[in-house]
Amino acid sequence: MKLKVKKYGKLSGEITLPADKSITHRGLMIASFSKGKSSIKNYSKCNDCLTTIKILQKAGIDIEENGNEIIVKGKGFSGFRKPFEVLNCENSATTMRLMAGIFSSLDFETVLIGDHSLMKRPMDRIINPLRKMGAEIKGKGKRGYPPLYIHGKELKPFKHQLKISSAQVKSAIIFAALNTEGETFIKEPFRSRDHTERMLHLFGANITTRDDSIIVSGKSPAFGTDIRVPADISSASYFIALALLTEGAEIILKDVGVNPTRTGFLEVLRRMGAIISIENKKVVSNEPVADIIVKGKQELKGVEIEKKDIPRIIDELPLVAVVATQAKGITVVRGAEELRVKESDRIEAITKGLRKLGAKIESTEDGFIVEGETILKGSYCESYKDHRIAMSLTIAGLIAEGETVINDIECVNISFPGFTNYLKEFNCEGIIRI
Ligand code: S3P
Repeated sequence: MKLKVKKYGKLSGEITLPADKSITHRGLMIASFSKGKSSIKNYSKCNDCLTTIKILQKAGIDIEENGNEIIVKGKGFSGFRKPFEVLNCENSATTMRLMAGIFSSLDFETVLIGDHSLMKRPMDRIINPLRKMGAEIKGKGKRGYPPLYIHGKELKPFKHQLKISSAQVKSAIIFAALNTEGETFIKEPFRSRDHTERMLHLFGANITTRDDSIIVSGKSPAFGTDIRVPADISSASYFIALALLTEGAEIILKDVGVNPTRTGFLEVLRRMGAIISIENKKVVSNEPVADIIVKGKQELKGVEIEKKDIPRIIDELPLVAVVATQAKGITVVRGAEELRVKESDRIEAITKGLRKLGAKIESTEDGFIVEGETILKGSYCESYKDHRIAMSLTIAGLIAEGETVINDIECVNISFPGFTNYLKEFNCEGIIRI
């Protein structure tokens, strides 16, 4: 399916966006290996989270969806059963990597596959640390591409000094460590999103966190509890960007997760000169939550983004490229080579897409350089079936002169079902579906 959009100089309203994908994945998995009943209120119904639900059910977990709430009846790690089939993680690397951590520590065999994109994503980043704990897990070739064959067994603790900052790698190790006798240490170069650690504290697991180090004491049970998931800051980012770039815009995004390990985009926008208000701060289920208020149009200037900033803005970098086309001067992103192994090669995908719209953008090995400001001109763009590219190019199309067509738009459902409907709810009439 294609989406056609055109510039529409209006954006207003007060909306609660759908729930956070990362937090929902963790809620489902942690509730599954905890003892007792858990309720996850306001969970994300995005494709990736629905995939996690299916996989947990196929591994014997009792999960019931009930409107906006999900009930998980966990029995600890012993509640998992050998699945009768190969498990398809579809497009979700979070599902594959985190579940691989759990399955490595369980006493049965599992095979994990994915869709066309996931089958090309490297799994050596979890295979290598899990093997150091004694796991029998293998993928294909040097980079350990799926299928992942896992022969689960009793693991041993290890002191991990990670080479990359990745919440998926960190969480896979934490989950394996929770079912492993003894103390496992994990240190990452720069702190990645910490939803796993925060949620495990809530479920009473034995985990200690200090700056960028984590200690997990295994075989000490976690217990089911009730949690509520905030709105997804990554989904909110598209509306924040569009509001900043739209004359007369005024939007209020309610109850958004503002965990400091996820708010890199807000900080970069502020460095670009943006004024963004954060109000009604509170803590819900051990996660900071607030309302975000943005008015447009604002004058922005180019900035430099370094390796240390990357983990906290990783999913928003294609959108940074879009915003940078409207900022005066040069924006440089360095140290973001991770973008090359996401759902698509996001460095090439966003560079090609924005160039078609007339942007001055160049890709580099580990990022991109954008020169602004440029008047974008509508064109035909590929999403490469990557949800973050599809949504970033939609925003670019909504500020470009003329009409823009984005191919394979349905991929937005991977993280954000209803993305285009929410644009309409904000009175943005620039959507023309084809
Ligand atoms: C995620 C972690 C990030 C992010 C992904 C979701 C998570 O990946 O890009 O969209 O939920 O743990 P990495 O851990 O590979 O950086």
